[in-house]
Amino acid sequence: MTRKLFVTTALPYANGPFHIGHIMEYIQADIWVRFQRMQQDNDQQREVHFVCADDAHGAPIMIAAEKAGVTPQDFVAGIAAGRKQYLDGFSISFDNWHSTDGPENHELSKTIYRNLKSAGFIASKTIEQFYDPVKNMFLPDRYIKGACPKCGAPDQYGDACEACSAVYAPTELKNPYSTLTGATPVMKTSEHFFFKLSDPQCVDFLRNWALGDVDGVPRLQPEVANKAREWLGEDGEGLGDWDISRDAPYFGIEIPDAPGKYFYVWLDAPVGYLASLKNYFGKIGRDYDAFMQDPNTEQYHFIGKDIIYFHTLFWPAMLKFSGMRVPNNVFVHGFITVSGEKMSKSRGTGISPLRYLDIGMNPEWLRYYIAAKLNSHVEDVDFNPEDFIARVNADLVGKYVNIASRSAGFIAKRFGGKVSTNFAPENEGFLDNLRSVSNEIAQDYEAREYGRALRTIMHQADIINAYVDQHKPWVLAKDPASEPALHEVCSCLLEAFRILTIYLKPVLPTLAQQVEALLNLPAMQWADINKPLPNGHIVNAYSHLMQRVEPKMLDALFEPPAAEAPAAAPAANDIEDIAPEITIDDFSKVDLRIAKILNCELVEGSDRLLRLTLDIGEAKPRNVFAGIKSAYKPEDLIGKLTVMVANLAPRKMKFGMSEGMVLAASAKDEKAKPGIYILNPWPGAEPGMRIR
Ligand code: 2FM
Ligand code: ZN
Repeated sequence: MTRKLFVTTALPYANGPFHIGHIMEYIQADIWVRFQRMQQDNDQQREVHFVCADDAHGAPIMIAAEKAGVTPQDFVAGIAAGRKQYLDGFSISFDNWHSTDGPENHELSKTIYRNLKSAGFIASKTIEQFYDPVKNMFLPDRYIKGACPKCGAPDQYGDACEACSAVYAPTELKNPYSTLTGATPVMKTSEHFFFKLSDPQCVDFLRNWALGDVDGVPRLQPEVANKAREWLGEDGEGLGDWDISRDAPYFGIEIPDAPGKYFYVWLDAPVGYLASLKNYFGKIGRDYDAFMQDPNTEQYHFIGKDIIYFHTLFWPAMLKFSGMRVPNNVFVHGFITVSGEKMSKSRGTGISPLRYLDIGMNPEWLRYYIAAKLNSHVEDVDFNPEDFIARVNADLVGKYVNIASRSAGFIAKRFGGKVSTNFAPENEGFLDNLRSVSNEIAQDYEAREYGRALRTIMHQADIINAYVDQHKPWVLAKDPASEPALHEVCSCLLEAFRILTIYLKPVLPTLAQQVEALLNLPAMQWADINKPLPNGHIVNAYSHLMQRVEPKMLDALFEPPAAEAPAAAPAANDIEDIAPEITIDDFSKVDLRIAKILNCELVEGSDRLLRLTLDIGEAKPRNVFAGIKSAYKPEDLIGKLTVMVANLAPRKMKFGMSEGMVLAASAKDEKAKPGIYILNPWPGAEPGMRIR
């Protein structure tokens, strides 16, 4: 029977580019999905739908958009436009990418809410909350700071003190202030809506779902079940009702029959899983309702350990009591660390996925390395540069690719590319052994025990390499009398290599494609393990399949830690020579304009550049790169006016087109007197005004 799988990863907030943690999660889910898609023989068939979306709503995104001077919709669209290069770069095979601000999500979220309400699971309560009287909005806790009520340390967040670790409510802060405006917040009441998680039916359901078994096996990973048990308490007394509403202004979905009230972002975010699937089914002409109502459908969410609460309590309960299908499971992973520590830009241990790609590192190295470290538990995955080099070079290049490089060349050069697969029993037995571990490997992929699967595969690679050393094709090649033996040994090795490639294909999809081209085969499925190359099949000439990792690449991967401020530099007492004289006509060729900096952001992979979005009164803003990263923080420039050369020919740079240049001053000898100063006109100048 066909298994119908609906698989998601967590939806990333649309407030910034992907970081390496996102990529790790996507790689984990992608390997699982690719493994499932390879099960195309009749009794194992799978239909897999793998989707994701931007998590678009919430106060932080609304505020970031406002700072950038654009609508939240445009802000989110800008972030979404940057997703593809990462997903393609790391071969993440989502079937669809959508947004929680899409119409499907508005509709589904409202339906879920209405259903919950008519089933009696929504309560309303008036609560008191801090309000910013300047910005005229209720303040989420993260935008309130003040002095710690216990130790008096200034500028502490509303939940806990970084100085003395005390935990408290934002209302307990001394001299609280809004980080948005600096204003002293006032207490104000507002009606909020709550999902009645404490309802006994809800508690009952969650105990069964989160702590129960599926086919005699606990549903959740043990670490996850422990968390859920802790939260549910002995009798479910641990669950409070969940506040699901926020007041305008808020970027989100308006609550039916409650003008000015919006769903809290965490209500509509997971609904985005369904919305993305529905959007996808709309595109491919599939019936969404029929699929979701089919009892054979299985729904799985890959998530990180920081969002277990939402996915094991709120989400299943929301679905259950709104009459929707409940997820079959959530698969939780840990975080990624670098050499045993949390990643840190200032220590120079941050890994930027784009930089990884930009400096030409092979994405399949990272897929392999991460897979080798992943298991079914909620453990952190450590990226250790030396270990990365050793593992990729030893396993992928030294063990796996080596098998092809020692056999395929002879087949092409000596036998016209033809394989001879009428094997002697000894060789048949050797290949049968290799095939006999296929179920074990399949079970490990299914159970997300990728590390164990890869250990089994590499153990087989060792056995195959021992066969190479025993039969020594390079020795056979020297003796014309050994021609048939050489043909059989190399053909047997190519068949072994083909099987290994199928085993590795979920992890290394691009390499597998290259091997399919080399072996002259269509896309290989799992069942092809048992379908050997036919006798006389012709393969193509061997070309090298994978480079080794160069240690210097790892040096380039980590940006150097932020440099110490240079010691006071000697004053440069000479100014730069004045350039040769020009006429007024020469000068008027340069079209200088007042520009408003609509947005400014870091450029992944560049130590020097900032990317500016400049408004000079044209229909479309200009994109300009400026070498001013050392002098300005992006957020300090957004909203300011400056001066740009508007008629400079556009230049294609490594990171995109630069459509102009901003003017900045610097000393003749920048080493002796560092500093870059961009120009800022007097008040009154407006975007688009010409400077003459
Ligand atoms: O933690 C996060 O990054 C959230 N944006 C995850 C949302 S997952 C799902 F609920 F949408
Ligand atoms: Zn304190």
